[in-house]
Parts: sequence; structure tokens; C-alpha cells
Amino acid sequence: MKIIGTGSAMPELAVTNEMLTEYFDTSDEWIRSRTGIVTRHLCSKETLIDLGVEACQKAIENAGIDPKEIDYFICSNVANNYVTPAMSCVVQGKIGATCPCFDISCACTGFIFALDIAESFIKAGRAKKILILCAEEPSKFCDWKGHDRTTSILFGDGAGAVVVTEGDDLQSICTATTSLPDVLWYKHAMEPTPFEDGIEEHVPLQMDGKGVFRTAVTSSCKDVDQVLKEANVNPDDVDLFVLHQANFRIIDAIRNFVGQPAEKFPTNLQHYGNTSSASIPILLDELHREGKLKPGMQLVMSAFGAGFVSGACCIKWSMEK
Ligand code: ACO
Repeated sequence: MKIIGTGSAMPELAVTNEMLTEYFDTSDEWIRSRTGIVTRHLCSKETLIDLGVEACQKAIENAGIDPKEIDYFICSNVANNYVTPAMSCVVQGKIGATCPCFDISCACTGFIFALDIAESFIKAGRAKKILILCAEEPSKFCDWKGHDRTTSILFGDGAGAVVVTEGDDLQSICTATTSLPDVLWYKHAMEPTPFEDGIEEHVPLQMDGKGVFRTAVTSSCKDVDQVLKEANVNPDDVDLFVLHQANFRIIDAIRNFVGQPAEKFPTNLQHYGNTSSASIPILLDELHREGKLKPGMQLVMSAFGAGFVSGACCIKWSMEK
């Protein structure tokens, strides 16, 4: 499998840490020093569907293909205001694609899971060109009314997309799940039937911050080590580690584990916060469009999120700018 097109779309509104102090008992200094985040973009005028459509259109244009050439469309999305149909079904019609599509919910690891599924479809001869969209608005899971400063400062909205096709760029990939539903969870209320005693209430995002931090670092280090070994790649020979953009201290801990310099760890979390599964494809698109990805470069990607799910892969980049 190889990536032949990238695209991304961000909401227009940039919300600074300073702006958040109006709603939460927090400070720019606390947020910067604990997370590295300076601003995040939040949907205001645009919807997540708008962002998804824009990211897909850019990736398709970048790949130089017709939307009708796409054989499968996989969308990673934790939640949006449609419970059904799947987000991919809504976006499909707006981008002029006609292929089968489905959504996956793998939290912040959705991009790696989608790459894994795409690779399997291509290897099985079921599809030649696959569109992957990761579109997320985790800001909407947070407790803004209850002024919960512990989660609302972390997240941003956004969408990133890639087109993949047959090729030899993907050298190794791994995915993992450890059932830990209590470290990070969000429940939305469903319509009760008359046959139930209790009603499940809506519960905004709950997070054991330290638990997430620990599990994220442990699982990412394990995954990165595994994919490097499987691809027979030495960490010194990796050009860029494109990691899930959750917190610069998590990235730093993974960096220490692989013993590589900070220049190899591009970030955009300072601008966008944590955009869940969209974070890697957004960063990839930025690097690609800025000409920072050159054919032959060795990349490692790694992501982790609620579940607890994690995954990583080694890719030898082959696309020209
Ligand atoms: N502003 C000011 N103070 C705050 C804030 C805030 N926004 N949030 C918490 N605090 C306070 C706490 O109440 C606590 O106060 P206390 O000492 O009086 O009790 C104090 O700051 C320290 O809180 P800790 O939770 O110990 O802070 P910590 O250094 O662990 O940092 C953080 C918290 C940033 C959430 C960290 O644990 C973390 O990054 N965890 C990973 C979470 C993450 O990345 N989640 C993303 C989603 S999942 C994913 O992408 C995998």
C-alpha cells in the first residue's frame, strides 16, 4: 500500500488559552506547560461534515484521481450529531464518490486502524483505491456547561484525509486493544423504551489524565518498538516520527524511549490541540504540502486512545510534493 494524496481542513475559529480562561478556572501558563497547546480550532460556522468534505476533496485532488475511481471509503469518527447514517455515507454523496463506505470508531487510533483495513482490502484484491477520512470534533464531548477544565482545554476539531493504493510503502503495521473503558469515556443518552427501569444519562467526557498519560506512553513505546523490529529499521534511520498529537510531554516520553532528537518529531498540537484520529493525517498533510516529506524518507506513525487502543506503522514515503 502507498499514500498517493493527502488533504485536511480545519475550522476557521482559533480559540486561544486566554479565551478559555473566560469559561474555566485555568491559565495560559498551566495549559502550555502541561500540554504544549496554545490554540485549538473549534467548529463555529462550519460543521464537521463540511470539514470532512473539504479534506476529502483536497486529498482526491492531490491524488489526481476522479472520485468515481475510489473503490472503498473508510471514515474514522468517534461521534458526530448523526448516530446513523454513518458519516462516510453523508460525505460520499457530497464528494461525488459512488463506492461502498463505512465508519470505524477507534478513538485517536482510527487512522492506523483504517490504514490496516485498507492494506488488507488491497492485498485481498477487493479494492485498488481507498479514501480514508478522519474527522473529529472531540470538543463537543467535553463538559463546557459544567466548566470542566480538565478535558475542555485539550481538544480541537478538524479533518484529515488520504488516498491509498497498491504499493510497497507500508513496511509494517500493528494494532492493539486492552479493555480499559474507565480511563477515558463519554456516554450520550438514548431514547428509553417503556421496558427499562433506569435511564442512561448523558455523561460528558470523563478522563483519568494520569492513567491516559501512562497507558499512552507504554503502549506507544511498545508498538513503535514492534513495527521498527518487524520492518528491520533502526531508530537512527527514521527521518520522522509522526505521532498522535495529544500532549507534548507524551511525545517527549516516546522520544526519550527511542533516543532520537526533537527535530525528528514534528508537532502541530500547539496550534490545533488534540484532534483525535484526525491528528496524524492533518500533520501528514501539512508536512507533505510544506515539502517536508521527500521520496525515500523513513516514517514511523503511532497513535493511542480511548479503549484503550493503540497502533503504529513504518512507511517508506514515495510521494513527490
Ligand atoms: N487548568 C488549571 N489547573 C488544572 C487544569 C486546568 N485546565 N486541569 C487540572 N488542573 C489542576 C488539577 O485540578 C490539579 O489540582 P490539585 O493539585 O489542586 O488537585 C492540578 O491541576 C494537577 O492536576 P494533574 O491531573 O495532576 O495534572 P497533570 O500534570 O497530570 O496534567 C493532564 C493533567 C495535562 C491532563 C495530563 O495528565 C495529561 O496530559 N494526560 C493525558 C491526557 C490526554 O492526552 N488526553 C487526551 C485524550 S486521549 C488521547 O488522545 C489518548
